[in-house]
Amino acid sequence: MSDTQHPEWEPFMRRALELAAQGPLTGGNPQVGCVLVDAAGRVVAEGWHHGAGTPHAEVDALSKLPTTADGRPDASGLTAVVTLEPCNHTGRTGPCSVALLNAGVARVVYALSDPGKRSSGGAAHLRAGGVEVIDGVLRREAEAFLHRWLTAVARNRPWVTVKWASTLDGRAAASDGSSQWITGTASRQRVHEEREASDAILVGTGTVLADDPSLTARGDAGELMPHQPVPVVVGERAIPGDAALRRHPAGLIESRELVDDPRDLAAILAALDARGLRRVYVEGGPALASAIVAGGFADEFSIYLAPALLGGDRLAIGELGIPTIGQALRLRLTAIEQLGDDLHLRAIPTTPEPAKEN
Ligand SMILES: NC(=O)c1ccc[n+]([C@@H]2O[C@H](COP(=O)([O-])OP(=O)(O)OC[C@H]3O[C@@H](n4cnc5c(N)ncnc54)[C@H](OP(=O)(O)O)[C@@H]3O)[C@@H](O)[C@H]2O)c1
Repeated sequence: MSDTQHPEWEPFMRRALELAAQGPLTGGNPQVGCVLVDAAGRVVAEGWHHGAGTPHAEVDALSKLPTTADGRPDASGLTAVVTLEPCNHTGRTGPCSVALLNAGVARVVYALSDPGKRSSGGAAHLRAGGVEVIDGVLRREAEAFLHRWLTAVARNRPWVTVKWASTLDGRAAASDGSSQWITGTASRQRVHEEREASDAILVGTGTVLADDPSLTARGDAGELMPHQPVPVVVGERAIPGDAALRRHPAGLIESRELVDDPRDLAAILAALDARGLRRVYVEGGPALASAIVAGGFADEFSIYLAPALLGGDRLAIGELGIPTIGQALRLRLTAIEQLGDDLHLRAIPTTPEPAKEN
């Protein structure tokens, strides 16, 4: 079913969404795509946002047009189809609404309004400049595509994915504390990919002191992937001077240096958001993961289940403050995949999270 009164623009918006997906998930900015269409319905240029600090999608597409005598991109008579309302502010780059106006576009079609307090107003600026503006084309698809980013922006805190690896009986370590490795290589490679798609990795001091993890994102051959999430160690205890995390290529953030109370998860997440770290991947251990879930901060779960049993009391998730079955935190599975001998489950909460206990 058509989303709008303008189905003629939907194929172009679908292409713009495909282009948007080529941009990075990390870096704090949304993935945005743009196509420039002439009066005959031909796509004459395409662009997408390549990441924070680089030209926005509209400017990237305009840069591929021939220029006028005074050196401006010549978009006269063209329609710009863009997945997000053109921005109206000067950040690390100039306002896209002005770039589109200066280039002479006749019409701008977009899917989603810009939710940013400082960057919105682009549509009004374009209309005031005499450009026809159509909004809401494939809005639902675009909302689904940008769901994590939109949620983070609306809440002023990052999108939080809680990951753990456990045995079928829900244990995350053996009785001696060892947990490397519960799952097989295919699962561990997927974890590296999930790290690379994150801005920050959260880990408790307990895991750092027990395992001395490197928390880098690595490829099949152990090579560093192009993007490295910054590790954030949560807790009061200091990290040893020779810890592997001190050699992490993205640096190291200790929550005790970030906020007054190094266990205050709301404050830590707000501080990370303020740094443009919008996608956070929680790698445990059980105490930190439980506190994230109990605090209502878990937006998504990524669970790796190995066909093994460990028994004992080292559960992947500990006390959540749920007194009775009727108050269980119910999840909806969004993906199930077999990775080698393991199962990888993705899930989102379906009921309101339990109230914060501490
Ligand atoms: N299977 C897996 O996926 C997996 C993943 C990670 C770890 N592990 C295993 O888990 C074990 C470590 O477990 P753990 O639970 O001690 O590790 P943890 O959750 O990484 O660290 C716990 C520590 O985090 C700090 N912390 C910070 N904020 C907190 C909060 N809001 N609530 C509670 N604690 C907070 C506390 O230390 P301070 O006193 O410093 O504040 C606490 O003692 C190891 O055996 C490791 O191998 C398994």
